[in-house]
Amino acid sequence: MEGVKGLINGPTFLRTMLELLKRDGLARIARFETRHGVLETPCLLPVVNPRLITIPPKDLEAMGFQALITNSYIIRNDPALRERAMKEGLHSMLGFDGVVMTDSGTFQSHMYGEVEVANADIVAFQRDVGADIGTVLDIFTEPDWGRERTAEAVRVTLERTSEAAAIKGGMMLAGVVQGSVFPDLRLECARSLSSLAVDVFPIGGVVPLMEGYRFADLVDVIVASKKGLSPERPVHLFGAGHPMIFSLAILLGCDMFDSASYAKFARDGRMMFPEGTFHLDEMKGLDCDCPTCRGHTIESLQGLPEKERTKALALHNLHVSKKEIDRAKRALLEGSLWELVEQRCRAHPALLDALRALAKHKQFLERSEPLSREGAFFYTGPESLDRPSAYRYERRYFERYSKPRQQMSVVFQDAERPYSRVYAKEMREISRRTDAHFLVMSPFGPVPIELDEVYPIAQSVFPRSRDRDTEERVRELMERFSHSHEYGVSMLYEGEPTLEMLEALGEGESTFDLDLARVRAVADYQFGRGAGALLMDGKVELVKSKNTDKIRNVLVNGEHILSMRAPDGLFSLRPPGARRLMRGFATPRLRVVVADDSEPFNREGKNVFCHFVKDCDPEVVPMDEVIVVNEKDDMLAIGRATMVREEMLSFKKGLAVRVREGVKV
Ligand code: GUN
Ligand code: ZN
Repeated sequence: MEGVKGLINGPTFLRTMLELLKRDGLARIARFETRHGVLETPCLLPVVNPRLITIPPKDLEAMGFQALITNSYIIRNDPALRERAMKEGLHSMLGFDGVVMTDSGTFQSHMYGEVEVANADIVAFQRDVGADIGTVLDIFTEPDWGRERTAEAVRVTLERTSEAAAIKGGMMLAGVVQGSVFPDLRLECARSLSSLAVDVFPIGGVVPLMEGYRFADLVDVIVASKKGLSPERPVHLFGAGHPMIFSLAILLGCDMFDSASYAKFARDGRMMFPEGTFHLDEMKGLDCDCPTCRGHTIESLQGLPEKERTKALALHNLHVSKKEIDRAKRALLEGSLWELVEQRCRAHPALLDALRALAKHKQFLERSEPLSREGAFFYTGPESLDRPSAYRYERRYFERYSKPRQQMSVVFQDAERPYSRVYAKEMREISRRTDAHFLVMSPFGPVPIELDEVYPIAQSVFPRSRDRDTEERVRELMERFSHSHEYGVSMLYEGEPTLEMLEALGEGESTFDLDLARVRAVADYQFGRGAGALLMDGKVELVKSKNTDKIRNVLVNGEHILSMRAPDGLFSLRPPGARRLMRGFATPRLRVVVADDSEPFNREGKNVFCHFVKDCDPEVVPMDEVIVVNEKDDMLAIGRATMVREEMLSFKKGLAVRVREGVKV
């Protein structure tokens, strides 16, 4: 077999490397290089059936699709197409200059049984016709298979992936995660794939889950796969082409999608929307303003001749799908992806099940949950309180927070934020009578008054009317609180009667200093239990804003150690503060350890790039303040992490720490 000239001998992609541009949790905007340009993710690859072109590839390109996917098995089995592809290459045959990905025939085996091609042959064919990204002939693991059959299919899929990696040449290879609905098999498959020279990780075998609206199972499958996949390569959700699930899948770290549905549904007379699929014949109005629907009425669209109508619906379906990816991207950039996902998951009860399935994975999701976001926490329903940001607060409150020495606590009802402003007068009145500490029963659980400005507490917006789920959650968390924090007396604030009771109990002069308590509590919350004591050892002075009376800077023994950020109520660390933390917390805690050749740059205040990272505190989360050190644990700089440890060590390109201040020798 003669290949298309110049392509086989192109650059060999040992492994593709994503460059991370923006992230929120597992969701990311990234890009990677291909032989036909840089592909930005998340992105949608329309499926082009070379025997049944609904929208010409050139038109796809004009619509802004940078990549498409076609089927090499169909091309190879059609003598005319096969000859053209071999002679002129896929790009010329399709008339498309963008990225061409090919699938291998696995899907045909899912649809019609066995396929008559060997893995090595179909992979070599994809390579020889110039596919930018080719796919292994994986085994489609069906959800109704038993464990043993599935495990065997995973084993064979991995064997074939190794074989494909050895012959991929200059083509990027997509190695598919199989394992059906067995989380351990998915995880094992994903881990094994990560060690191979695979460039893209499609998650396969999910079409039956999509078709059966088994979205909760889909969530479990994506999570199990993501747990095992090395983070520096793109993840493709194979055969998931409905805008209903894009935001959810993007939230879980899927970077690429393909859609055959846009054309299949169009042939069936069905229109896709993020809210679901609707049959044109049953629709009673047209509210779509996409370039194809614009100017149409429902009657004019329904009245089109069949071929034109199919094309119009296919175009509509593509526009809507593309727009939904853009919508999710925008939400990601603005810090509101969770809100978008929660809204989208209200489109169908099966999606609500998927949203609820996320709660099971909050521990895993919290690992990459940023310390704070620009956007506020908007409550959309009881599921909002299972977001990793709420779980983060709950966990850190119970694990890191220590109560001050007051033996009496007064608990206020939830109110507008920040609580310390709203309850300033009440706290003053109480403090005139006794020595008390203050908490608020927030929907996030108990909030000591000194943590009231911390993200997401102050940055959260809840409806005034509480639903029963939230009531119950608050009750449970308050119960847990009363068992874990030993106040002598704890009482709910109920106005004048409470004041009288407190006066009678008379614990004496108030000694509660909200500002000092805030510095200590936020430091413990942010850096770990004990950080406050380390940082505040000495003579503490606070610089406060004249306008807002909020803490700006913390000085200890005359050294500026911390600055408090108004937007998220958390600290920016300064080198003298970092030095104090380093004395109490052994390496690698709070550290990012870099190679020697990075040292002079970081000391100058230049950013840390992944390539130079040797190690990192496994507890570091995106947006965390970190101390950049060399392998001798000398401080080189202070900055904010953009990644977790595993990412810093896996990515070769891109920013690991945005340095704020270098430390000269
Ligand atoms: N298209 C949809 N699902 C799959 C899959 O599991 N494997 C491959 N190769 N293609 C697919
Ligand atoms: Zn439309």
